[in-house]
Amino acid sequence: MYGKLCFLASVLLSMSTVDLAMAASGGANIAVYWGQNGSEGTLGETCGTGLYAYVNLAFLSTFGAGRAPVLNLADHCDAPSGTCASLAADIASCQAAGVKVLLSIGGGALGYNLSSPSDARDLAAYLWDNFLGGEGATGAPRPLGDAVLDGVDFDIESPSRFYDDLARNLASLYTRAPRPPRWGKTTYLLTAAPQCPYPDASLAAALATGLFDHVWVQFYNNPPCQYAAAPGDASALRSAWQQWTAGLPASTVFLGLPASLEAANSGFVDADTLASQVLPMVEGAANYGGIMLWSRSYDKDSSFSVKLQAALQNRNKPTGTTLLFFLRGRICKWLTFVYSDFLIQYVVLHYYPGQLRFYN
Ligand SMILES: *[C@@H]1O[C@H](CO)[C@@H](O)[C@H](O)[C@H]1NC(C)=O
Ligand SMILES: *[C@@H]1O[C@H](CO)[C@@H](O)[C@H](O)[C@H]1NC(C)=O
Repeated sequence: MYGKLCFLASVLLSMSTVDLAMAASGGANIAVYWGQNGSEGTLGETCGTGLYAYVNLAFLSTFGAGRAPVLNLADHCDAPSGTCASLAADIASCQAAGVKVLLSIGGGALGYNLSSPSDARDLAAYLWDNFLGGEGATGAPRPLGDAVLDGVDFDIESPSRFYDDLARNLASLYTRAPRPPRWGKTTYLLTAAPQCPYPDASLAAALATGLFDHVWVQFYNNPPCQYAAAPGDASALRSAWQQWTAGLPASTVFLGLPASLEAANSGFVDADTLASQVLPMVEGAANYGGIMLWSRSYDKDSSFSVKLQAALQNRNKPTGTTLLFFLRGRICKWLTFVYSDFLIQYVVLHYYPGQLRFYN
């Protein structure tokens, strides 16, 4: 009985508010990158659209091998002079709305690498102290003020060793969470954005630790494993998807896509084709998590995720009630169990009192 109650509770509580709302409406969980274009709107507006479950702040683009870490949010703010601290209010509003906000390290500019296990340990401590639950060993101002982010995203696009050490060091720091963990488990996440050729040249060792909660695979700028728009061929994507979902049983896997034709050199799939042709093929994986989009800037211009959520809601019209039926089914099963247990005890107690010791 306790197990069943636990299962019901865990189904409900393991989903963020946004996840639950998306599931109820038949839409997708969308993770989006924000930060590389000032005209994409503020972080608060981005979360306020209600379209996204995860926002990755892009990027901590400089770190490792003796470099001082630098947060680069393009023309949104200037971290070295302290102006990014004003994002703390937006981050709090995102989190209050159930949107997880992560710091993405790496990116396309390649001003980073790790030189040794101790370099990885130092970076983990820096991230913990400056963006997560740590106190700030040096007392230096935190780049995002008093914001406590929900985790770290690895967007590593240049092969180097020691990212597995970084993941293990972060996971170990996460267990120290000084803020009260919600629902009895740590609230900090590890996520990663590998390229779709499997295994990924930069992140294979890190992913092999099994420590990543969500992995948003980039199915773009990678013709050997992405959707081929002309002639509309999903077979390369399908076989890569099967490798990724089978290879990461402990993670949920997201389909990473460009939010418009301009957002990548190749790999764009329009929202209707995605909803009708591609998603039915990928959603069957037990660890399917949702969609990742590069990036908020392109999504704002193209309304890709607005169209996608609408297409999915049409496709899944009865799904709002499906969730209710699912939950009702769970609750009923549990009540039936409790009731039958009670009934047996009642019968035994009244008609076969001498047998009670056997039943118990
Ligand atoms: C930022 O977005 C605007 C509007 O979508 C676009 O015109 C501009 O080229 C983008 N800038 C960069 C640096 O990507
Ligand atoms: C890391 O980058 C530094 C500076 O660019 C370089 O000298 C070093 O060889 C790189 N180390 C690794 C392990 O890639």
